[in-house]
Amino acid sequence: MDFLSNSTHLHILTWVVGIILFIVASGMSPGTKERKIVKMVLRVFYILIIITGLALFIRYMDLNSALYGVKFLFGILTIGMMEMVFAKQEKGKSTQMFWILFIVSLLITMFLGFKLPIGLDFFA
Ligand code: HEM
Repeated sequence: MDFLSNSTHLHILTWVVGIILFIVASGMSPGTKERKIVKMVLRVFYILIIITGLALFIRYMDLNSALYGVKFLFGILTIGMMEMVFAKQEKGKSTQMFWILFIVSLLITMFLGFKLPIGLDFFA
């Protein structure tokens, strides 16, 4: 599956689309059919984010196994926080805490991704 790890472009595409779908779905009223559909598509994108991330991880982790491991964890955590925002919205509870955790884990994940040596290297 070399095409997945030859560049970071596919990985970037999947998480950018994922974040847009997350913002769209979180703005819809819980329980509506439209929201359920957007969430279903988003879940397909979670899988694509993980597959493309995993392909890069397996190929390059030896370059810096500690940082690659942390990137992996924060990538998964970011997805987890999106799901927590949905869960709280559906229970009618406050989502503020999980929005903050989502944004913090997203920023850490993006920082690590851009710091790691493959693809774009803003923080090298
Ligand atoms: C919403 C979740 C995620 C976001 C926002 C995200 C963000 C990023 C960004 C900004 C980059 C840098 C791209 C570049 O330098 O060209 C990147 C690369 C990478 N991501 Fe993710 N990612 C996410 C999920 C994941 C997951 C779940 C994994 C592991 C299964 C993963 C593994 C990787 C790897 C291994 C790289 C290559 C790092 C490098 O050497 O530059 N990511 N990601």
